[in-house]
Amino acid sequence: MAVPGTLIHPFSEPSKPETDFINIVGAQGSVLTDDTGKQYIDGMASLWYCQVGHGRAEIIDAVTEQMKTLVTYNTFDPFTNDRAREAAALIASKSPMPDGRVFLGCSGSEAVDSALKIARIVQQRRGNGAKQIIVRRTHGYHGTNFGGTSAQGIEPNREGWGDLVPHFIEVPNDNIEEAAKVFAEHGDNIAAVISEPVQGAGGVWPPEDGYLQGLRRLCTQHDALLIFDEVICGFGRTGSWFASQTFGVKPDLITFAKGVTSGYLPLSGVIISEEIGAELSEPGFLLRTGYTYSGHPASCAAAIANINLIESEGLVERANHVGKKTVEGFDALMADGIIKSYRGVGAIWAVDIGHDSTEAKQKMRELGVVIRGVGTSIVWCPPLIVTDGQVAMFIEALEKSLN
Ligand SMILES: Cc1ncc(COP(=O)(O)O)c(C=O)c1O
Repeated sequence: MAVPGTLIHPFSEPSKPETDFINIVGAQGSVLTDDTGKQYIDGMASLWYCQVGHGRAEIIDAVTEQMKTLVTYNTFDPFTNDRAREAAALIASKSPMPDGRVFLGCSGSEAVDSALKIARIVQQRRGNGAKQIIVRRTHGYHGTNFGGTSAQGIEPNREGWGDLVPHFIEVPNDNIEEAAKVFAEHGDNIAAVISEPVQGAGGVWPPEDGYLQGLRRLCTQHDALLIFDEVICGFGRTGSWFASQTFGVKPDLITFAKGVTSGYLPLSGVIISEEIGAELSEPGFLLRTGYTYSGHPASCAAAIANINLIESEGLVERANHVGKKTVEGFDALMADGIIKSYRGVGAIWAVDIGHDSTEAKQKMRELGVVIRGVGTSIVWCPPLIVTDGQVAMFIEALEKSLN
């Protein structure tokens, strides 16, 4: 019997033998290659992050150049570096908070935990000591550190770890009246609401019309902060630089990761509104949080090159084109009665196949397309450079796997 290897994989059964995993040995553009030579369309942009596609020399070269002069140095007081400063300014300039501040980390989970801590400390400093509750939404995914685990609206991910962070309240993801009831009852104690504008890992759930606006209104009325977790949505995925812009709602804090570097090196962070930034900038206040690799110069060089590529290749707009082609394919499958419904925006979509998606996911992989299965849905979130032909191959594989 095959035994597990030394490596423990995330979100896996540790008993699964290493030989049962698919060994990816190369990737170019939107195409992956495994160690048998089999090729796949990367229909998930790895894990919702590879906006510009794989193997881009522009990013590799920028990182290499940076590493020739300064590979790494920390940005704890009193140190800084040019790339960290430039990346922060560039990221803010694309966001709905161009005059805001940017705090950096490595993973989405670090960004989420930082945002939760910043929301809490802002309330403490305002003298709102009782405001500790964070409102989360069903289906929300916010990473796997203790803060993000507590903020998750995916119940199995919260179970079995013992006590989580206290003071989280869950609201249904699609009903603003329910959120209003929670605010009516607990408004004086609510520090913040955390929400993905389009929920990703929970199954791709775009917001109901007016929902995000409703959250904004409730937060403003009750002096709570609105945190948009744009770890998946950011950097073009929804057809704007940030989903806050797609849906026309300005939060107080935005978390980002993934698409900021297209995953070439780890980088994440929190964009902090001008107003909150001003509060934190009060002389004498010391922000006692941060990470060894906050502002890592090589990661920041990757971010700058990646953002410049997204800009120069028009990939933000291209997300809408990918969406259009995807929807054309889905509509054809709907007309033939092969799928029941679909949902999404820009270049992030889910299709409901009406039954458990495990088998279809495996079949699609055999046919050379990597997608994700969430319950009865199949998720498609490709690199923004995916070609029309590759979208058509995805639709064909979907059709074949369901027939
Ligand atoms: C919305 C959202 N927030 C946070 C995270 C956590 O990011 P990471 O896995 O980099 O810690 C994810 C990861 O998928 C995510 O989708």
